Amino acid sequence: MAVQRTFSIIKPDATKRNLTGKIIAKFEDAGLRVVASKRIHMSREQAEGFYGVHKDRPFFGELVDFMISEPVVVQVLEGEDAIAKNREVMGATNPTDAAEGTIRKEFALSIGENSVHGSDAEETAAEEIKFFFNDDEIVG
Ligand code: CMP
Repeated sequence: MAVQRTFSIIKPDATKRNLTGKIIAKFEDAGLRVVASKRIHMSREQAEGFYGVHKDRPFFGELVDFMISEPVVVQVLEGEDAIAKNREVMGATNPTDAAEGTIRKEFALSIGENSVHGSDAEETAAEEIKFFFNDDEIVG
């Protein structure tokens, strides 16, 4: 498997509880490298655009309100098989299903307030990275 880049968000429930460093350590311990990072307070327009694929889901309003409730940390992670590796480190979307040692098992509060987002495929990773970063902000 080749070196890939994936997109990550440390979500409001985690930044609020000062867990940013502990979560980044999980990525680094798994062999992922942070090649871009910024702490932002997402606008409603950004959150609605980023999660546009979920706009018809019943939880969409709740998801957008949550994502703009506190700052988030958006990042690009790089490494061998980074997309799958990041998903493994995050654990299942619902923390009650997440494996021991994963970020969501240790830190997530609920399926909505689940501490992290990570891209699910190569195409979405490229789109999501572009949504928040210019090429010159990514330093590998
Ligand atoms: P994420 O990986 O950021 O992508 C979409 C998000 O929607 C997901 O993580 C969850 O946080 C959220 N989500 C999925 N299902 C539900 C649900 N049933 N209720 C609230 N939020 C949800």
